[in-house]
Parts: sequence; C-alpha cells; structure tokens
Amino acid sequence: MMKKFGNTKIAQILILISVTLTLATVTVAQDDPHGGTNSIYCEQCHITHNSLGDILINASDSLVSTLCLSCHSPGGWVPMTKELSSADKADPGVTGTSHAWDVAAINTERSTQLPQTQTLLDHLTAENKITCATCHDPHANSVSPFLRLDNSADALCLDCHRTRDNSSVRTYTGSELSHPVGNALPATEFYHNPPLDVDGNPQPSDGNTTNDYLLGAGDEVRCTSCHGIHYTDSESSTTDGP
Ligand code: HEC
Ligand code: HEC
Ligand code: HEC
Ligand code: HEC
Ligand code: HEC
Repeated sequence: MMKKFGNTKIAQILILISVTLTLATVTVAQDDPHGGTNSIYCEQCHITHNSLGDILINASDSLVSTLCLSCHSPGGWVPMTKELSSADKADPGVTGTSHAWDVAAINTERSTQLPQTQTLLDHLTAENKITCATCHDPHANSVSPFLRLDNSADALCLDCHRTRDNSSVRTYTGSELSHPVGNALPATEFYHNPPLDVDGNPQPSDGNTTNDYLLGAGDEVRCTSCHGIHYTDSESSTTDGP
C-alpha cells in the first residue's frame, strides 16, 4: 500500500541520496548529532534497493521505530546515551516511562485524534499509526530535539490531544474533562508560584530539576508542566533521564 509515499516521493529519496552520496565526503547533509559528529550519513538510515516498504529505510521490518531503535538502544550501531526500548512505551497506570509509538493515532480511551498539521499527518504510517518520525524530523534539528513543531506552547501535544485544550476543558459539556492548560499560574496564597517541589520548597531547591513543574514563558501551565515525554518514571523523588 502506497498511501503516504507515492512514486514521486521515492524518486525524490533516490535522487537526493545519490546526489548526497556523491557529495558525502565533503558535505554533511543532516543536522548533528545525526551528522558528521557521529559519522551518520544518509546510507545509515536509507537503502536504495531491495528495501522493505515504501520509505526506503534501513530497517528489517520497514518500521521507522525499528530504525531509530537500532541506534537508540543498548548495544546499537553507535555509542549512545539516549537509549529507549519497546518496554519503555507507556500504558498509563500499568507500565512504561515514555510516550507511546507504533500505536494507532486515534485512541478513544485517551481521547486522541488524527493530527491536523500537515507535517504530522504526512509522517503517520500507512496504517495511521504514530511513530518516532511523527513527532521528530530525523533530518532537521532546527526545533531541538529534532521536533516537527515548536512545543513551547503545547502545539505538538495539542494537535493529537486537542480535546484537552482549554475550549473543551472549560465548557463542562460532559465531554471528558481535563486540567486546564495555557492559563497563567497566579501568585497568590492559593497557588505557589514558583510551584513547590517534592521536598516542599520552591523548586528547584531539592537539586532534582526533573521533578520541576515547567511553566510557559508567561508562567502558564502546559501539558509539559506535569508530563515528561521520555525517561519519565512518574516518581517525583527520583531523577529522570537517559
Ligand atoms: C537518522 C536517520 C536518517 C538519516 C541519517 C537520513 N534520513 Fe531520510 N528519512 C529518515 C526517515 C525515518 C524517513 C521517513 C520519515 C517518515 O515518513 O516517517 C526519511 C525520509 C526521507 C525522505 C522523504 C521525505 C521526508 O522528509 O519524509 C527523503 C527525501 C530523505 N529521507 C532523504 C535523505 C537524505 C538525502 C539523507 C542524507 C542527507 C537522509 N535522508 C538521511 C531517516 C533518516
Ligand atoms: C545511525 C544511528 C542513529 C539513528 C538510526 C538514529 N539516531 Fe537519533 N541520535 C543518534 C546519536 C549518536 C545521537 C546523540 C546521542 C547522545 O547524545 O548520546 C542521537 C540523538 C537523537 C536525539 C536527541 C537530539 C538532541 O539534540 O539532543 C533525538 C531526538 C533523536 N536522536 C531522534 C531519532 C529518531 C526519531 C530516529 C529515527 C528516525 C533516530 N534518532 C535515529 C544516532 C542515531
Ligand atoms: C508524541 C511525540 C513523540 C514521539 C512519538 C516520540 N518522541 Fe521523542 N521526544 C518528543 C518530545 C516532545 C521530546 C522533547 C522532550 C523534552 O525536551 O523533555 C522528545 C525527546 C526525545 C529525545 C531526547 C531526550 C533527551 O532527554 O534529551 C530522544 C533521543 C527521542 N525523543 C527519541 C525518540 C525515539 C527514538 C522515538 C521512537 C522510538 C521517539 N522519540 C518518539 C516527542 C516524541
Ligand atoms: C501524533 C499524535 C500525538 C502527539 C503529537 C502527542 N500525542 Fe500523546 N498520545 C497519542 C496517542 C495516540 C496516545 C495513546 C497511546 C496508546 O495507544 O497507548 C497518546 C497517549 C498519551 C499519554 C498517555 C501515555 C501513553 O503513552 O499512552 C500521555 C500522558 C500523552 N499522550 C501526552 C502527550 C504530550 C504531553 C504530548 C506533547 C509532547 C503528546 N502526548 C503528543 C498521540 C499523540
Ligand atoms: C496539572 C498537571 C497536568 C497537566 C497540566 C496535564 N496533565 Fe495529563 N495527567 C496528569 C496526571 C496526574 C495524570 C494521571 C491521571 C491518572 O492516573 O488517572 C494524567 C494523565 C494523562 C493521560 C492518560 C490518562 C487519560 O486520561 O487518558 C493523558 C493522555 C494526558 N494526561 C494528556 C495530557 C495532555 C495532552 C495535557 C495537555 C493538554 C495534559 N495531560 C496536561 C496531570 C496533568
């Protein structure tokens, strides 16, 4: 099935790869750390012939996540601090320390919908599953870390999770309710601003910055005030991280 990638896309990949292979000795065509620093070139991630699937990637099952995890896991191709594995995928209340991948984009239990932004839609799998490359652009680190959208105001989170934006949260219509986001945290006796940390002092005084509530530029509460995306063990007394 060639739902997401037509022949033009494949031709585009082939042309770009052959052009870049010729230039590979002089040019690094991707952003670091997926570039010269770690000697990563097109051909690590792409194969031009006999590849499985239609996105010409170097993965035994043609899944983007398999490609990503072939480096981003213990004993992978390249020395790595930022390891992940399938066991890390979250199933809330049950297991996991990382946002899920290779799961259907539409999930009624979690109130998720197909994203609306074209660049996210373009990088779902042919079965409309979300994968690493739905949120990450492996070719460009202009919005670090390789993100497809600037998430400083939750644009990425709220695309698929838009039933949790303030317009649906605060009308109390009987739809699933959620904590408000985008509202500034007031500095009154009822709200600690800055918020209190797990040790009861204004953060980050316990020295563990991974349990800090991150606020937006205008002190607003964000999805990411309360949620981490990877390496998050939902235990505020421990330090998260790869
Ligand atoms: C770190 C791995 C990685 C490297 C290195 C890499 N690519 Fe890709 N590339 C991917 C993945 C994964 C996709 C498919 C993304 C998707 O659609 O889900 C892709 C897709 C593409 C596409 C389709 C258009 C798009 O953006 O979706 C082109 C063209 C392409 N790559 C060219 C290149 C060229 C040329 C190089 C070397 C300069 C390169 N890639 C290096 C991982 C990589
Ligand atoms: C060929 C090996 C390789 C592959 C394949 C690969 N990566 Fe990486 N990636 C790296 C290395 C090396 C680093 C730097 C890790 C470190 O700092 O320890 C990195 C770092 C990253 C970072 C953090 C960037 C930053 O600025 O901190 C992200 C995000 C990332 N990769 C996403 C992906 C995604 C998504 C894929 C699959 C499309 C992928 N990677 C595939 C080697 C790879
Ligand atoms: C739902 C969107 C989403 C998916 C799916 C996703 N990521 Fe991420 N990832 C993010 C966001 C957002 C960040 C930045 C988080 C932050 O800064 O705390 C991030 C950060 C990272 C980092 C850097 C972590 C660090 O601590 O420096 C790596 C590496 C990474 N992702 C790799 C992957 C790989 C590999 C996959 C697939 C196996 C994947 N991501 C799937 C959204 C996603
Ligand atoms: C491309 C769509 C997409 C984006 C972008 C996205 N999510 Fe999700 N999210 C999902 C889907 C689909 C699920 C249901 C996963 C499953 O099947 O377990 C989910 C589940 C979750 C869960 C429950 C844990 C889990 O993995 O099941 C949390 C918490 C969450 N998302 C938070 C976020 C935050 C915070 C962001 C912004 C960084 C974000 N999501 C961005 C689609 C997305
Ligand atoms: C004030 C803190 C806070 C904020 C802000 C917040 N969450 Fe949560 N979220 C939580 C907690 C705590 C849980 C676990 C609830 C439970 O165990 O039932 C949770 C659970 C979830 C779940 C999994 C359970 C479910 O209901 O599906 C998803 C998905 C999720 N949040 C997405 C988001 C998104 C997307 C945003 C931003 C629009 C967001 N959250 C903002 C604290 C927060």
